[in-house]
Amino acid sequence: ANGSAKTGKSRNIIEKMEESGKNCVVFYGSQTGTAEDYASRLAKEGSSRFGLKTMTADLEDYDYDNLDKFSNDRLAIFVLATYGEGEPTDNAVEFYEFINGDDVSFNDKGGADSSPLADLQYVAFGLGNNTYEHYNLMVRNTTKSLDRLGAKRIGDAGEGDDGAGTMEEDYLAWKEPMWAAVADAMNLEEREAVYEPSYEVTEKEDMSAEEDHVYLGEPNKNHLEGTMKGPFNANNPFIAPIAESREIFSDKQRNCLHMEIDIEGSKLSYNTGDHIAIWPNNSGQEVDRFLGVLGLKDKRHTVIAVKGLDATSKVPFPSPTTYDAVVRYHMEICAPVSRQFVASLAQFSPNDEVKNEMTKIGNEKEVFSEKVSSHNYNIAQFLETFKITWDKIPFAIFIEALNKIQPRYYSISSSSLAQKQKIAITAVVVSDQVDGAQHVVKGVTTNYLLALKNKQHGEAGDAHGLDYAITGPRNKYDGVHVPVHVRHSNFKLPSDPTKPIIMVGPGTGVAPFRGFIQERAQLARNGDTVGKMVLFYGCRKEKEDYIYREEFEQWQKDMNGQLEIITAFSRDQKEKVYVQHRLKEHGKMVNKLLEEKAYFYVCGDAANMAREVNQVLGQLIADERGVDKSKGEEVVKGMRGANQYQEDVWS
Ligand code: FAD
Ligand code: 2AM
Repeated sequence: ANGSAKTGKSRNIIEKMEESGKNCVVFYGSQTGTAEDYASRLAKEGSSRFGLKTMTADLEDYDYDNLDKFSNDRLAIFVLATYGEGEPTDNAVEFYEFINGDDVSFNDKGGADSSPLADLQYVAFGLGNNTYEHYNLMVRNTTKSLDRLGAKRIGDAGEGDDGAGTMEEDYLAWKEPMWAAVADAMNLEEREAVYEPSYEVTEKEDMSAEEDHVYLGEPNKNHLEGTMKGPFNANNPFIAPIAESREIFSDKQRNCLHMEIDIEGSKLSYNTGDHIAIWPNNSGQEVDRFLGVLGLKDKRHTVIAVKGLDATSKVPFPSPTTYDAVVRYHMEICAPVSRQFVASLAQFSPNDEVKNEMTKIGNEKEVFSEKVSSHNYNIAQFLETFKITWDKIPFAIFIEALNKIQPRYYSISSSSLAQKQKIAITAVVVSDQVDGAQHVVKGVTTNYLLALKNKQHGEAGDAHGLDYAITGPRNKYDGVHVPVHVRHSNFKLPSDPTKPIIMVGPGTGVAPFRGFIQERAQLARNGDTVGKMVLFYGCRKEKEDYIYREEFEQWQKDMNGQLEIITAFSRDQKEKVYVQHRLKEHGKMVNKLLEEKAYFYVCGDAANMAREVNQVLGQLIADERGVDKSKGEEVVKGMRGANQYQEDVWS
């Protein structure tokens, strides 16, 4: 029961639903926006297919001690992401602790009532990643608690798996039987889904994009006015100067960037091991394609005003703005297309032939896979294959259906002790050839960073279209800038610098370890004693992609050999050699350090490497200590529990 004083808004969901005439609330626990997007889609579908009066609700915005006052002509939907190591998302912490608490009590019905939630009927969908140990823990624990409290679950709780890359299909497979069960339980009749826009987009012929209150990519009013104001955070990025940028590979096929981002004067701060978020924008080529396929290219700089048509549809970007700015800065236009979205676009086809084709692709999983996902098309690339202009599709549908463009996170590769005001990142530029090299998937953020680097060095190759970037059209900021914020993490050096540490980080996984090593080298230069550090580093070829070698060798000297680097060059010989092979070869030393309470760190690829390292470590402990494999695994588990084993991994 907090926060209401702060915002002045009611935190009573029952009241809110009554006031706004809603009978279905979709609660979301979301970290990066994905769960929120699924929540919006469910709300939309419930309304267009079944006539439910739906709203979405951020779990953080409401209290839960009146959920017992729900009535059974209403429906609650919970869309819950599990974050990191089985944790609730930030906005769901309070809800999660409340509902799973031992002495959960409601305003009206105390502990004596064994089924306080008898009038709450609900469905649930979880978003998780099965490469983590606590797969979908949020939705599993929450449904268990709701059921225990007497709530009536309709259908099975769904579980989407980001690890296997099947989130969308898991969702689609779950939602059909779910809706059937809901329709049955609530006596709803399905109707032909008609598109009801949630947003009104009005072209402002009388306004010009030159006018200084028209947003051209600025994230908010302060930025528009050119007076950046803190605090800078996930809702308000700092437009940071890039102090330094360079490529650190000698491989001509791939690019790896080292960048130093200047946070001086921003009041942003970081600690070694934290993450920095980079706010990207889409490449000019993809923006052109998108606007082109919709027939909006000539109108790209037309001013538009966007308005939510009901109280719960918040416009996800500032208005007035332009088509160009919305597409470039606010929509995730390059992501894979969802099958459901294709199905919903069929009604805007120019003729029956195209409509039938679109319907087939949207409804049949195999056809979709053959025509869309096997090519890794984004939405515009797919629509382009019809060789027609899709000018009947209302722009509003993209505002609803496409995700908000998300900041990407990078493990900070510098030490805050050595350089407090300059954050380093280490990023490989994503350029994946698929479809027999017919098609290249270019990572949005990393190609944006590459273009910034080129610009800083006056090099050719601005394929990204930076001329439009926020630092461009109004020239508010001199030099080369990038919007950022900092996210604090638990991936931390031991507070005692004399403790030994073991670091495993192949590829860009070495990023935070560059920070760790830089930090201890600084301590050593200051005259402090530092403990032993072992880095297991892997890359393809010693002469090709061994990054930071000279620096590491210098820091080795600074630390009087306290740093040992053990390398695995996977492609310098016939058989693959990986960091986990080296770990095994050095089992004796690793085990000895662990017995001296060394901290063990893994960073990089979550899908395979981190899991394999985990297994190898369990096995080597078992071998060295002459115990069972299961005992070795237990030791590793214990280390995790005690924070002696830390991971910073991504997929
Ligand atoms: P995106 O555009 O996001 O594309 C990423 C991938 O999505 C592509 O490779 C492809 O597999 C898939 N994809 C995209 N579009 C399509 C499509 N149309 N069809 C099918 N598939 C598609 N990275 C680093 O380099 N260094 C780091 O230090 C680092 N630290 C990280 C720390 C954390 C905590 C996390 C979560 C991630 C970290 N990453 C790091 C990864 C980084 O955040 C980005 O994911 C990565 O740089 C790619 O971003 P991008 O915008 O360039 O690519
Ligand atoms: P590869 O690409 O030759 O297979 C950085 O990407 C390094 O990590 C590369 O040398 C890469 O080898 C290696 N790598 C790939 N898969 C791995 C895995 N499952 N475990 C450890 N290292 C891996």
